Amino acid sequence: MTSTTIPSLTITRPDDWHLHLRDEAVMASVLPHTARQFARAIVMPNLKPPVTTTALAQAYRQRILSCLPAGMQFEPLMTLYLTDNTAADEIRRASDSGIVHAVKLYPAGATTNSDLGVSDLKHCYKALEAMQQVGMPLLMHGEVTDPEIDIFDREAVFIERVLQPLRRDLPALKIVFEHITTREAAQYVADSEGALAATITAHHLLYNRNQIFNGGIRPHLYCLPVLKREQHRQALVAAATGGNPRFFLGTDSAPHARHAKEAACGCAGCYTALHAMELYAEAFERAGRLDRLEGFASLHGPLFYGLPPNAGKVTLVRQPWTVPSTLALGDSQVVPLDGGETLAWKLV
Ligand code: DOR
Ligand code: ZN
Repeated sequence: MTSTTIPSLTITRPDDWHLHLRDEAVMASVLPHTARQFARAIVMPNLKPPVTTTALAQAYRQRILSCLPAGMQFEPLMTLYLTDNTAADEIRRASDSGIVHAVKLYPAGATTNSDLGVSDLKHCYKALEAMQQVGMPLLMHGEVTDPEIDIFDREAVFIERVLQPLRRDLPALKIVFEHITTREAAQYVADSEGALAATITAHHLLYNRNQIFNGGIRPHLYCLPVLKREQHRQALVAAATGGNPRFFLGTDSAPHARHAKEAACGCAGCYTALHAMELYAEAFERAGRLDRLEGFASLHGPLFYGLPPNAGKVTLVRQPWTVPSTLALGDSQVVPLDGGETLAWKLV
């Protein structure tokens, strides 16, 4: 059966294993989009100030739940923001809380609100040892920040300089290589042993770097890690659609106000929370592997995090619709990925 003859696809309700919800009015705008698409999401801690303690994560979780529209079911899975000063005790508190599911490494300066991130992982070994001990996953923004390294090479160099030494030192630490963008990263994760996985965004499956400059600069396709060459996009599609449980869905949906992206120094981030499953369905259909979408979106992530898959189901139908050109974002607007374009699949 070819994919174009499949009119609908029903799968276990999916989760988003990498999401930016922000806070306050912006969160109120974006949360219903995610809650419609996903049962649970790993919520990134790069707020201002960042979510560095279990107490801050608990308070943030309460703000998310109280912002959820009546009748919607959604479970935020909280994370802590790793700093040079994160104590082993804080990790144990996080683990005991039952609401913190991972700790996020932002190399200082790598991306949005990462200034208070880690200057050198050597400063974090007490916390990392505690994480290994309690089984708390480390989520990595996998790019070096060395300005001497070309921006398109920063992920591949991160594997050599940071990831390999860390895995030698702490072989039982659970690690998710977040939003991978290169063939090198996909290969490294696929070839590894032990508890190493990777998330892949919809935009990195659908676009390559040429599209950032297609007829002019396209700020809404600018994210970090930046889109790479076509050969890398193809390697990511092969990884996502290959059935390997080490690869699972993480949108990295990252809302920024339109004026903050369409600017002389535009912010990094693509907004995909509204239509994430439709975008992934597009990518899987193009690869002729819609049959592998459920594993990637709904089964591999829970397996890695030691959580049960969701009980409910969702259905996608092959029914073209046009993505809105803009959406409300607090008192501003956000331009979704593919705004104004027609998508083949629709989540019903
Ligand atoms: O494009 C991105 N946007 N990459 C990140 O790592 C952070 C995110 C954000 O928070 O806006
Ligand atoms: Zn992110």
